[in-house]
Amino acid sequence: MKEAEKLNITKSMQLFEEATRLVPGGVLGARRPQDFIDGEYPIFIESGKGCRLIDVDGNEFIDFLCGYGPIILGYREKEVDDAVYKQISEKGFCFTLTQKYQNDLAAKIAELVPAAEMSIFLKTGSDATTAAVRIARAHTKKLKVMRCGYHGWHDWCVEMKGGIPAKFYEDVYEFAYNKPEQLEELMAAHGNETAAIIMTPFGHPNHQEMQVPQPGFLEKVRELADKYGAVLIYDEIRTGFRLSLGGAQKLYGVDPDLSVLGKAIANGYPISVVTGKKDIMMAAAEKLFISSTFFPNSEGFVAALKTIEILERDKVLEDIWEKGQWFMDKIQGVLDKHDVGAQLTGIAPMFYITFKKDETGAYKGKRTDFYTQMIRKGFFFTPFHHAYICYRHTKEDLKLALTAIDESLAFIKDKYQ
Ligand SMILES: Cc1ncc(COP(=O)(O)O)c(C=O)c1O
Repeated sequence: MKEAEKLNITKSMQLFEEATRLVPGGVLGARRPQDFIDGEYPIFIESGKGCRLIDVDGNEFIDFLCGYGPIILGYREKEVDDAVYKQISEKGFCFTLTQKYQNDLAAKIAELVPAAEMSIFLKTGSDATTAAVRIARAHTKKLKVMRCGYHGWHDWCVEMKGGIPAKFYEDVYEFAYNKPEQLEELMAAHGNETAAIIMTPFGHPNHQEMQVPQPGFLEKVRELADKYGAVLIYDEIRTGFRLSLGGAQKLYGVDPDLSVLGKAIANGYPISVVTGKKDIMMAAAEKLFISSTFFPNSEGFVAALKTIEILERDKVLEDIWEKGQWFMDKIQGVLDKHDVGAQLTGIAPMFYITFKKDETGAYKGKRTDFYTQMIRKGFFFTPFHHAYICYRHTKEDLKLALTAIDESLAFIKDKYQ
């Protein structure tokens, strides 16, 4: 199989070179070139529409990152954007006081999310996970936290510890997804001092294969939380309004005490939520202070209400499951055909192609080659993060991506045999 031609990313590189003089590292966090494949992926985007992106050099891509998760419908989704423009131009969105949309959204969330009675609204996922932990600590008057998964960039949970005194995270312990025995051991040692267990209800650890809950895993975590009186928090920042309207908790049938939502709820507009049982949530009113200048800004609320309306009206998530499952089945067929050590994990709305680790480390070369071929062919997947399906991906788009996956694996087979 012929190697795909390298993309022209000259303007991206020029902008990046300029950026390195203006912004430390050029761009922040997970958008850095080394988080993709340096020299192969664009760094700056010009525009997007539906499931397509155009970079600053004019290269076009069918995108499977969906803005790292918030895009559930598509880029520039007219109905959502129009609702926001109308709000901004006819009423305004940044005021000294709160607009009524917070009540409407809190009521909608209580209707849809199983363990939701009362909600507070913030802007980012990190805001919300941090607020949820603070609420749990205030409610239980306990200190320690058990965690499982990525919960954002704040002091208590970020992986890179630069700039953070150890005292800010030394009471936080990590357990692995689908390993209840790890949590059991931690709780046996620290359960009586544990305020919260925070976890992603579906397993999507950074850079690793995805995991569905093994039978009994979520139930066991629930049981341990109850046994020790810890608040169980589901971090549904990625899974909320994506796996189902009620999140992963609805899909898997185990309720947390608190849930954290963000990303897909507003198709890209900034808003996040802590929601949960009234007696615990009331700590937010009575025992602590959560406030930020931008939290009440209404563009996120308006976008969320419109996005949820569309998700319900057009049965968007059913559509995503149907075509995502079709796509996963076809991808698995192609992986089996080429048998080059690539594996597929995840579920229809979010899945990941990784390469099985081997002793020689050849898997890294295969991974780089695979994702390089894909981006060169115009398909925006990345080696270090799983993919998402959005409403605007058509079966035709998925068929094109499937052909590209087939060809890229054929290229790897030729190269490595
Ligand atoms: C599961 C999970 N929790 C929390 C966060 C943090 O959200 P944000 O990046 O909006 O601060 C993320 C972000 O990717 C996430 O995936």
